Amino acid sequence: MERAEYLVSSKEQMQKLSEEIARLKKERNAIILSHVYQRPEVQDVADFVGDSLGLSQQAAKTDAEVIIFCGVHFMAESASILSPDKIVVLPDEHAGCPMADMVNEVELERKKQELPGAVVVCYVNTSAEVKAECDIACTSANAISIISSLPADRPILFVPDKNLGQYIAAKTGREMTIWQGYCNTHDRLTADDILTAKAAHPGALVLVHPECRPEVVALADVVASTTGMIRYARESNAREFIVGTEMGILHALNKQCSDKQYYLASEKLMCPNMKKITLEKVHQSLLNLEPRVDVPQEIRERAVRCLDRMLAI
Ligand code: 13P
Ligand code: SF4
Repeated sequence: MERAEYLVSSKEQMQKLSEEIARLKKERNAIILSHVYQRPEVQDVADFVGDSLGLSQQAAKTDAEVIIFCGVHFMAESASILSPDKIVVLPDEHAGCPMADMVNEVELERKKQELPGAVVVCYVNTSAEVKAECDIACTSANAISIISSLPADRPILFVPDKNLGQYIAAKTGREMTIWQGYCNTHDRLTADDILTAKAAHPGALVLVHPECRPEVVALADVVASTTGMIRYARESNAREFIVGTEMGILHALNKQCSDKQYYLASEKLMCPNMKKITLEKVHQSLLNLEPRVDVPQEIRERAVRCLDRMLAI
């Protein structure tokens, strides 16, 4: 395996590495996809920066032979499920999602037996094995449309995020059995944090992600996916925003609508897994096309139905 030598310390070195990444990307016929929670310098070398839904859509339609996925494991897995002929590389194999790990296929199978006839909806933050056991997936951007599209007479089992589940149940009026998982990063944000931020910035609107606790959501002016927040900030007449989601979004906000002010609702809003990917690891992964994410054929065939149904809505 080739090993690049570097110790990135200066802006100049970072620039050199970014140029090398751009060169290798062409040579490998690769596309770099980045979630908005990635480090700023990683977002800056990406061809597409977006939310979970946007990234799945890009992965499904790309012509590139290689997808360098700067995000967490379930996202790279979804890319591999949707584009099985591509090489999908996750620059740090340990970049996982603790919420996705809060449900597994064995526990889910048991729960399904308790709820015969239920439509099983999974948040995209789940493993391929769990998706293989579900009827349809959703992301925070399309969860309300997905739940609203389900037959009114069918019970619903929603996995794994209890906060998102409670939010969409309230929005759609649908009764749902909700798994008790949560995102350690968003669930750390408290109502007190929001009240403190509001006191410091009384003119600012509060934007929060639906992975936040219900009492935090109740204090928000806008509840949206990461892309939804950026769109709202761009289109709104407001000048200042308190942002209740992972801190990486500030870079995307400042880049895409730089004439406004953004205040992170709390310094706690940092996902350590999203930050595992560095520019050096992106470079290394383009050199070696490793570590790869592959989904076994038998699981992929069942999991793809769940993602295809979501993308069709
Ligand atoms: P979205 O990008 O879909 O808003 O999801 C946030 C998230 O926590 C992804 O891990
Ligand atoms: Fe998982 Fe939360 Fe990190 Fe997203 S922010 S990857 S949901 S732990």
